[in-house]
Amino acid sequence: MDIDPRTYNIAPEKIEEFIETKTSFNKKEGILINKENGNQIRAILPVHLYGQSADIEHIVSLCSKYNLLLIEDCAQAFGSEYKGRKVGTFGEIGCLSFFPSKNLGCYGDGGMIITDSEDLADKIRILRNHGSKVKYYYIEMGFNSRLDEIQAAILRVKLRRIDKFNELRRKSASLYNDCLRGVDLITPYEDEHVKHVYHQYTIRIKDRDRVSRCLGDEGIASAVYYPLPLHQQPVFKRLGFNTGDLKNSESASLEVLSLPMYPELTEEEIQRVCKTIKDAMSTTIG
Ligand SMILES: Cc1ncc(COP(=O)(O)O)c(C=O)c1O
Repeated sequence: MDIDPRTYNIAPEKIEEFIETKTSFNKKEGILINKENGNQIRAILPVHLYGQSADIEHIVSLCSKYNLLLIEDCAQAFGSEYKGRKVGTFGEIGCLSFFPSKNLGCYGDGGMIITDSEDLADKIRILRNHGSKVKYYYIEMGFNSRLDEIQAAILRVKLRRIDKFNELRRKSASLYNDCLRGVDLITPYEDEHVKHVYHQYTIRIKDRDRVSRCLGDEGIASAVYYPLPLHQQPVFKRLGFNTGDLKNSESASLEVLSLPMYPELTEEEIQRVCKTIKDAMSTTIG
């Protein structure tokens, strides 16, 4: 499904268009079936990309309309809100990542699933622990996905400060916006219903790779999230998408550039990043 080119999040109207044109409803089982490959469609899994909630109200209504589960990928959006409500609390399941670079990061790998369903919570606890509820008795094919205790201890301390960290990111985003006003690039769009937590401050800019190199020459890191859309990844070749099928995703992948963003970023550093971008752009024009 293609994205909304302003937020880079999944576009709910594209989900609906897909369901209406490419699926049929199996009334007996109450399940949507993909007409092209016969696969069952059980859930919608929106990613709250870059720290901004997807259009979750719209997606929730699609889930009720078509009897689908909602699984939210909140890996980049810990603390983000939609109409004052935290992401991860809209669906049956919310998935968090505590990878070090995330807004709430530990010092290794870590993550969490949140749900208000006791049944799902029980099942997930079993799966994460080799499929066992009672030690050495296995009732499912599980895996080891326990949160390491050292990581948990670090997260417990950082959790108390996450709102402050997110506020600092928002302040830096606003400074970037001020500094880049009038420059020929697109700064992040913040939906009016959403509290963006700026996991990434991602601009859209022509001649992206050259600007990124100029930043690198000045010792300033920047990154492309992501250079190849999912439907063009080798692993998903079997789904049969062609180049041009998801135009918004494809053109975004050629132009997005994420600038330095972390709570400790200073105003001087932001000004230096912006000046380097402006200098790089003026040399293109010249
Ligand atoms: C949007 C998104 N989903 C999922 C993940 C995976 O998280 P983890 O590596 O903690 O499993 C990431 C991490 O990079 C992410 O950014």
